[in-house]
Amino acid sequence: MTDTETSFDKERARAFTSRALGILNDGALSLMMSIGHKTGLFDSMDGQDPATSAEIATNSGLDERYVREWLSALACGGIVDYDPSNETFCLPQEHSGLLTRRAGPLNLTVPMQQISLLAEVEDDLVEVFKEGGGLSYEKFPRFQALMSESSERRFRGGLVNQVVPLLDMTEALTAGIDVADVGCGSGLASYLLGKEFPNSRFVGFDMSTDGITHASEMAADLDNVSYEVADAAALNQSERFDLVTTFDAIHDQARPKDALAGIFAMLRSGGTYLCVEPKASSVLEENMSDPMAPFMYTISTMHCMTVSLAYGGDGLGTAWGHQLATEYLTEAGFTDIRIEGIRDDRGNNYFISTKP
Ligand SMILES: C[S@@+](CC[C@H](N)C(=O)[O-])C[C@H]1O[C@@H](n2cnc3c(N)ncnc32)[C@H](O)[C@@H]1O
Repeated sequence: MTDTETSFDKERARAFTSRALGILNDGALSLMMSIGHKTGLFDSMDGQDPATSAEIATNSGLDERYVREWLSALACGGIVDYDPSNETFCLPQEHSGLLTRRAGPLNLTVPMQQISLLAEVEDDLVEVFKEGGGLSYEKFPRFQALMSESSERRFRGGLVNQVVPLLDMTEALTAGIDVADVGCGSGLASYLLGKEFPNSRFVGFDMSTDGITHASEMAADLDNVSYEVADAAALNQSERFDLVTTFDAIHDQARPKDALAGIFAMLRSGGTYLCVEPKASSVLEENMSDPMAPFMYTISTMHCMTVSLAYGGDGLGTAWGHQLATEYLTEAGFTDIRIEGIRDDRGNNYFISTKP
């Protein structure tokens, strides 16, 4: 008998079989849940009495045959209840709080859409596994729209009520200061702050023309908010701002050190930098008990890391972690860095530092 045969743990193999099958089923269900969000099916079932597939399809304005198949998948997956006596389906109230637009930041069907977004680049990614390099933003045409939907939940819930008090800048923003948001994406953070603080001036920078076009249209009615297409690693904005923010916009940059040095340079003395980055440790084993860690490393492999590598960048990855982030901020010149968090955004660390 070989060593491998004697040490083979049958119980472990059985448990893993069950887990692997679970992954297969849950992967499939993540697509169904994303479709439930996009079609509005979860919203139309929210708070409703049990109904047949025909009634649910009519209420949602959708094709019955597709709705019935979708409901069958969700019933088998334990997401909706099914009563075979009258062939009715119901979304339990204990589930709807995580699956509907009413759930706001808790709505898990929004990040669920990232699974299908990432699947679109799977074959291209297999090629870069072999050859190195990365996939540029052009490979992710749905990225800005999905990012904007994901960020909207936390910005609307937490930006004015939780982030501004954390910075202790309500008075300054009310009186009027200059604020930049670097890697602003579709620009909602500057838009919301611009509306709340009309005496302050806000500029959003991003290299995505899609994001900046969307942002400029959204804020067309605000005189104190503007957006510019720019590479964050080459901003050249000397001592112009009192507050600079980055929301999940450093780790996926090609040249994060240049971006941070530019942010330091663009702040006036006494100005504040808020750097929001995924809550993670730089040490793999310290992330292993985080229930979102497999998702985080997957997003990293298939988006955040690869977009950075596509431009010859550092490829820090989503889980570059608070230790490395603190090192990068310190190297850029920031001191007395404190790490905070907010209630409506449990997945991110809020690094706050003032330029001496
Ligand atoms: C994860 S998204 C975050 C967007 C936005 N801050 C939010 O929270 O919704 C990262 C953003 O950084 C931008 N970005 C990446 N590299 C950049 C660079 N070198 N210069 C400017 N923007 C960059 C991307 O276009 C993208 O909009």
